[in-house]
Amino acid sequence: MSADGKIADASRAAARFPSATDKAHLERQIAKADATLFGAGTLRAYGTTLPVTNTDLIEARRSRHQPDQPVQIVCSAMGNFDPQWPFFRQPVPRWLITTLEGMRSWREGRAAEAGEQPFEHVLITERPFNWHNVMQDLLNGKSALSSAANRPAIQNLVVMGGGELVASLLSDGLVDDLYLTVCPLLIGGKTAPTPVSGLGFTLPRTPQLTLRSCQVEADEVFLHYSVCR
Ligand SMILES: NC(=O)c1ccc[n+]([C@@H]2O[C@H](COP(=O)([O-])OP(=O)(O)OC[C@H]3O[C@@H](n4cnc5c(N)ncnc54)[C@H](OP(=O)(O)O)[C@@H]3O)[C@@H](O)[C@H]2O)c1
Repeated sequence: MSADGKIADASRAAARFPSATDKAHLERQIAKADATLFGAGTLRAYGTTLPVTNTDLIEARRSRHQPDQPVQIVCSAMGNFDPQWPFFRQPVPRWLITTLEGMRSWREGRAAEAGEQPFEHVLITERPFNWHNVMQDLLNGKSALSSAANRPAIQNLVVMGGGELVASLLSDGLVDDLYLTVCPLLIGGKTAPTPVSGLGFTLPRTPQLTLRSCQVEADEVFLHYSVCR
């Protein structure tokens, strides 16, 4: 995020300001995970996801008996995706968490243009999303929310943003750790998104954090917080 706490500008375009060091830091977090989760707004901004490309990190995954790439999970209530996004051609496993309405809109819309298997698994939940049920389903690898069998269990999930998704997971008490990189620029703007958006929390009942580590590299500050229970 920028030094004034923004993750993109007011147009919600892709935020490409982090340094190579920050990208490598993010890739290391992703490489530890069984899956990453991101909101449809983040996918709309980038059109792609971040696969693991560092060969040492891929080798480390193999030695932990993990597949080369973590599963990339998109959440969207509406299921409104552009099948031309490069995301649908990236060599990564893709899953979707959506509503019945979202699944119908995607499947009856342009899903066929997105290739043979745009999403390996689709988990259907109610609206608003019941994240406790979703997380239980991901963790168990069982399919209360999808008809598919043999889905791998997701134990280590990295949430990539954006602010709306992170806010809903925080408000349900489902975030353990927060990694923030403060980048040396200012974005400003009332409507530019921040790491946590949604309705906001009311003081003093806001999520509280404990600082686990703080590293400075060149002009960036790498923060790791755990979320207090
Ligand atoms: N700097 C960074 O590190 C970074 C990282 C990530 C994102 N970003 C930026 O953040 C912006 C996107 O963030 P955002 O807050 O606008 O969007 P977001 O959280 O990525 O996505 C919002 C969309 O995701 C779905 N969604 C999220 N939470 C949901 C929930 N609880 N229940 C149901 N659906 C849910 C909905 O999709 P539908 O509308 O399809 O139903 C919603 O409209 C972009 O500008 C991107 O560039 C920056």
